[in-house]
Amino acid sequence: MSASPDVDIVELRQQVEVLREQLAQAGRLTAVGELTSTITHEFNNLLMSIINYARMGMRHKDEATRDKAFDRILSASNRAAKITNSVLALARNRSNTAEPTDMKQLVEDALLLLEREMRKYRVAVDVELDDVPRGMVNGNQIQQVLVNLLINARQAMPRGGRMIVRLVHDAEAGTVDLVVRDFGCGIPADKLPHIFDSFYTTKSGPDDSGKGGTGLGLSMCRDIIEAHHGRIRVESTVGKGTAFTLKLPVASATAAPAATAPTLTATPNTPTA
Ligand SMILES: Nc1ncnc2c1ncn2[C@@H]1O[C@H](COP(=O)(O)OP(=O)(O)O)[C@@H](O)[C@H]1O
Ligand SMILES: [Mg+2]
Repeated sequence: MSASPDVDIVELRQQVEVLREQLAQAGRLTAVGELTSTITHEFNNLLMSIINYARMGMRHKDEATRDKAFDRILSASNRAAKITNSVLALARNRSNTAEPTDMKQLVEDALLLLEREMRKYRVAVDVELDDVPRGMVNGNQIQQVLVNLLINARQAMPRGGRMIVRLVHDAEAGTVDLVVRDFGCGIPADKLPHIFDSFYTTKSGPDDSGKGGTGLGLSMCRDIIEAHHGRIRVESTVGKGTAFTLKLPVASATAAPAATAPTLTATPNTPTA
């Protein structure tokens, strides 16, 4: 028998690997691109606040007013710095290593990026974060997943509403679980099997904040969660809402430090939970 079929398979595997990497890169850029408009608006607001308080400090020479002005300028600048750092981390992230991560902090950082947007679309976010053990995760990647789920949840409630973000410890399974629940349109049962497919979307294009319509969000979420050997589950009822649950491994007490942290590798084509 000729050796060529084997060679073809090796070549095809390599090509699949390259394409997967390109898709992951597209997903990362989409996530960052989608945040551009939100972050520009947020920055503009912070700058307005800085400019106005600087003016106030220049007009009023008394110490109390100046202290107040400096205080406001400092807190607006700190918030701006935090936001740029998060976005830079999301954009740069090419590392594939997991390390023990403070999950509460991770959730709070993701919510910070979307706080203004949620207000704008009249979505109240109920945050219920238990004190959970540290997760063995790549923080940037899980933040990217969370941002995607939050944006989808917001878009499922075009007239506003309420969503719940919950962090709990499942001691039996040895996981930290992150739940994003919305009370929006829901997903019909016949569509549910497709939502994790690359390029599957029911949106006609980006909304007025520049988000959605690529169909890349959930496929990227699934790849990231699979690489973590975690699970992503979805329950949905049309007209009632949708809940996504991420189950992520807890970092053991003797977990390896970052330098020797395990590398995350996705297993292609495993069926989704
Ligand atoms: N929370 C949700 N509520 C209702 N439908 C959802 C929700 N999350 C995802 N979907 C559905 O899954 C599809 C794919 O989502 P996603 O991969 O993020 O792509 P996109 O947001 O660009 O459409 C969406 O178009 C939508 O139909
Ligand atoms: Mg999306």
